[in-house]
Amino acid sequence: MGIEITGWGKCTPPSILTNKDLETILDTDDEWIVSRTGVKERRIAHTSLSDMGTVAAQHALAAADKDPQDIDAVIMATCTPQYIIPTTASRIQENIGNKHAAAFELNSACTGFVYGLTTAYSLISSGVMKNILLVGGEKVSFFLDWGARDTAVLFGDGAGAVVIEAVDNDSKLYSSKLTCDPFLGNTLMLDNFGSSMEFKDPKDGYFLGIHFEGQEIFKNAVKTMARLAEEALAESNLTVDDIDLCIPHQANLRILEATAKRCNFPMEKMIINLDKYGNTSAGSIPIALTEALDQGKVKPNSKMLFLAFGGGLTGAAAVIDWGSRVTSIKTSDAALPDSEKTALELVKEISNP
Ligand code: UT7
Repeated sequence: MGIEITGWGKCTPPSILTNKDLETILDTDDEWIVSRTGVKERRIAHTSLSDMGTVAAQHALAAADKDPQDIDAVIMATCTPQYIIPTTASRIQENIGNKHAAAFELNSACTGFVYGLTTAYSLISSGVMKNILLVGGEKVSFFLDWGARDTAVLFGDGAGAVVIEAVDNDSKLYSSKLTCDPFLGNTLMLDNFGSSMEFKDPKDGYFLGIHFEGQEIFKNAVKTMARLAEEALAESNLTVDDIDLCIPHQANLRILEATAKRCNFPMEKMIINLDKYGNTSAGSIPIALTEALDQGKVKPNSKMLFLAFGGGLTGAAAVIDWGSRVTSIKTSDAALPDSEKTALELVKEISNP
């Protein structure tokens, strides 16, 4: 028995927030953002996270030609859930019309998709399940402090999804390396949220948004991703030259360039789309994967490396054999409703509820 990604899809909300837009609300400029991060624009959602996840899921189900009833688990990788209870995964399950599957959230921040991929492959290889819908996505715009220029310019909203299933060939997960350094946890935080929240005053008690120590995370991201890539390749009995494509978490172009240099990995084999979407956290890899497939960059039996780092501080690297099919079996016309507001209007609403 093999295990393969048989369906893929994305949902990137229509409202585009450009660096020029950000110049109107923050002390920043396009030149700084592009030269320090590579990001030119990002999307701001006018709908819920489960709406985005559902659209991505419907494309993935169509690409795999999979009946939603055949899905055994919906796993939602996110650190910006729509509710704490019920899970965003269960909302997506409801929207696709599945009544019986397991549904749960998986939060390891930006590494969520690779953690989820590893979980899904393991549930299938153990025989517990056959078909899994894995969605990665965020509505991070809601959790940002839009007055903080160091963080606000980096992130964006979006979701991607894959169907993973047991197949009758030898496609597989060669290796997966997942890690977390809890001693650096405070370097990337959304505090005063969750059961630690202090309701002293309705205004003071409100969480302030994600904050981080950028340089500390930057250094750690490069070191961790390079180390995990080496370990995952060694365990797979593969070298850098054997890898056809790397789909990394899209946080910062400079982080990816430094990681590629450290691993002797050619940038041409790395999929980069952070210029269009910024850092969509757990959404970034499935969105980039879907675009790589749509652009014909994934070839039959490609050996692929997924790489990520994020809050925790977590790190993840996984090597897979893609399998033979690189085109969708069916397509879906699922889409979000049109937005009546511009991205800047949506951001202003979040900043002044
Ligand atoms: O998925 C994980 C999420 N976390 C990350 O991805 C963060 C990883 N870290 C990074 O991507 C980078 O560290 C940043 C992009 C956040 C910052 O880049 P940097 O090259 O490390 O800049 P810096 O923090 O050293 O700041 C340099 C200067 C500072 O001014 P002074 O002190 O030199 O006068 C900042 O105040 O740039 C200033 N600055 C800005 N200027 C214009 C910070 N943010 C901005 C901004 N526009 N948006």
